[in-house]
Amino acid sequence: MGAGALVPWGVRRHATDEAGALVGPWRLEHASADGGMARIWRATREADGEPAALKRILPHLVGSSEARDLFADEVRITAMLSHPRVVRYLGAGEDHRGPWLALEWVEGLDLHALLASRRAGLPLEAALCVGRDLLEALVAVHGCAGRVLHRDLSLSNVLVGTDGVARLADFGLARSLLHTRASPRGSARGKLGYLPPEVFKGRVHGTRGDLYGAAAVLWEALAGRRLFDHISDRARRVASWMGAPRVPVRDVCPQVPRVLAQVLDRALELDPEARPGTALELLGAYEEALWRAGLTPDREALQVACWSARRRLVAPTVPASGPRAREGLAA
Ligand SMILES: Nc1ncnc2c1ncn2[C@@H]1O[C@H](COP(=O)(O)OP(=O)(O)OP(=O)(O)O)[C@@H](O)[C@H]1O
Ligand SMILES: [Mg+2]
Repeated sequence: MGAGALVPWGVRRHATDEAGALVGPWRLEHASADGGMARIWRATREADGEPAALKRILPHLVGSSEARDLFADEVRITAMLSHPRVVRYLGAGEDHRGPWLALEWVEGLDLHALLASRRAGLPLEAALCVGRDLLEALVAVHGCAGRVLHRDLSLSNVLVGTDGVARLADFGLARSLLHTRASPRGSARGKLGYLPPEVFKGRVHGTRGDLYGAAAVLWEALAGRRLFDHISDRARRVASWMGAPRVPVRDVCPQVPRVLAQVLDRALELDPEARPGTALELLGAYEEALWRAGLTPDREALQVACWSARRRLVAPTVPASGPRAREGLAA
């Protein structure tokens, strides 16, 4: 819309951020990535140079009260959490451009970008490290004082640092069982392909829904392809994955030991009651499977995978993980 164009009633025009601007104590450096709801800026604190990821609602959504409510919940929930496998809260505020949320800056790549750059799964011991980090994050999130459900587990919401640590990010659809407003029963929010099938039958996305999402992420990290092949038509896609038998992980990644494949299969059961009851139970089964198979997650291997992927990628200002790029792994 050009300068001076009419803005319809009820729609406020929101100026967009620019590199160099100051947002609270944070100086914006460059836009780093766009998600479906928000833009992430790389920023640094004026006072001490501390780096941060500054999150803003996408400009065209700032006027939406639903987007602002979700963002307010995200801020509240992120501030409740404190765990080394969960992206750390640094502060939040609001200015004339809308609300903002500052998070620890994870130098690295999200898991979608990492896998897309390889066009293959991660080395087994590196993927096992992602699996352990993610399950530890879920144990902390589900078990925190606010009893939080993430509800948007996906490759792009797992950030792999150059330190070889995977961190759970993006609590934009999260819900605290104690504090936030309840979402409508069975409302299917989140990313198709990671959402637990029960939400399409009108059931609530509960603890076991997150376990399904975490297992789907780990399956894809091992296999280097989508758990359910990309079908662009949403209705057909939902129908295919509610009914189609899943490809066993060992068919695409034969080095996965049978005991571990069984753990994944259980967490990916279509019926939530057939999955492990809690994240702690799933983590226990996972650790036992690794022990029985004589495998140890290798943080150095994950670090190497992250560094090599970054070398393969071009400029850091190119959004490597926009919504379009996330449609298929090797976008
Ligand atoms: N703390 C961080 N450090 C570095 N990069 C980050 C950080 N948080 C997010 N990103 C990058 O920005 C992308 C989008 O962030 P985020 O997932 O929070 O936005 P969103 O709009 O809520 O996403 P979605 O599409 O999942 O709804 C991430 O996939 C990741 O690539
Ligand atoms: Mg996201």
